[in-house]
Amino acid sequence: MLYLIGLGLSYKSDITVRGLEAVRKCSAVYLEHYTSILMAASKEELEEYYGSEVILADRELVETGSEIILRDAREKDVAFLVVGDPFGATTHTDLVLRAKRENIPVEIIHNASVMNAVGACGLQLYNFGQTISMVFFTDSWRPDSWYEKILENRKIGLHTLVLLDIKVKEQSIENMARGRLIYEPPRYMSISQCCEQLLEIEEVKGTKAYTPDTPAVAISRLGSDRQTFKSGTIKELSEYDSGEPLHSLVLLGRQCHELELEYLLEFCDDREKFKNDVIKDQEFFKPAPWVPPVEEDDD
Ligand SMILES: C[S@@+](CC[C@H](N)C(=O)[O-])C[C@H]1O[C@@H](n2cnc3c(N)ncnc32)[C@H](O)[C@@H]1O
Repeated sequence: MLYLIGLGLSYKSDITVRGLEAVRKCSAVYLEHYTSILMAASKEELEEYYGSEVILADRELVETGSEIILRDAREKDVAFLVVGDPFGATTHTDLVLRAKRENIPVEIIHNASVMNAVGACGLQLYNFGQTISMVFFTDSWRPDSWYEKILENRKIGLHTLVLLDIKVKEQSIENMARGRLIYEPPRYMSISQCCEQLLEIEEVKGTKAYTPDTPAVAISRLGSDRQTFKSGTIKELSEYDSGEPLHSLVLLGRQCHELELEYLLEFCDDREKFKNDVIKDQEFFKPAPWVPPVEEDDD
């Protein structure tokens, strides 16, 4: 049996009771270690808690070497642990499909995900549009396909959840080209870097999917005892020190309900200014007033 088990957002004890029972009966335990990190527990702490060895599964192992995991699962119970939820902004459908094709039974044990816990900032999950991922720009690679998605979301008044890149076990291009298995230290995108990249692309495109004055909320270390929120404009957040990872950002949509706004006002530096920024931003993409159709006269 292959178990895909969500670990929740922060603590070793965030795993569900059903998840823990499954892990404890598995003979091999893999921890997916490239799309997110468990902030408040190390590999060693998890091993002590589960009473078994934990194998860190990097992108290479999961995407190209999944045969190793499936080979184990053919004969015994194997746990594949995913921080958050196994299907929350992470695609492990490939592993599940491969297991099913090989008639390996699969059981999924869900948990909280950034995709739902983001509601802790006060914005309604109902009012979110497409989620986007912001990757680290390099000198020669500055992808911006997410821009159109923000534009689409904002046109229909919806908030945009921005997930920030993390690089846990990556090789430099030079080391990769030379075939050297040397990995760079882990890197986690900060809120300020994400906002700078947003502003850079808006400057290039100039179609005002958002502006430097668009209100947003920075969400850091969600689900941990160091969870923090900061609301401000994109420009203000481009100068914000968000501290330790993990981080996400939400760009506000036009349909910002007054209760949502009240919640966000708790996290800003200047309540009056933030309120005015939201009112001003809501003018963007405001639909034209509805005009009733003119009745055709039969005569
Ligand atoms: C690719 S997603 C994986 C999500 C995970 N499977 C889940 O269900 O929560 C990872 C990104 O989500 C965001 N994220 C995940 N956990 C977070 C947390 N506790 N606080 C803030 N952002 C978080 C970060 O931007 C991180 O780089």
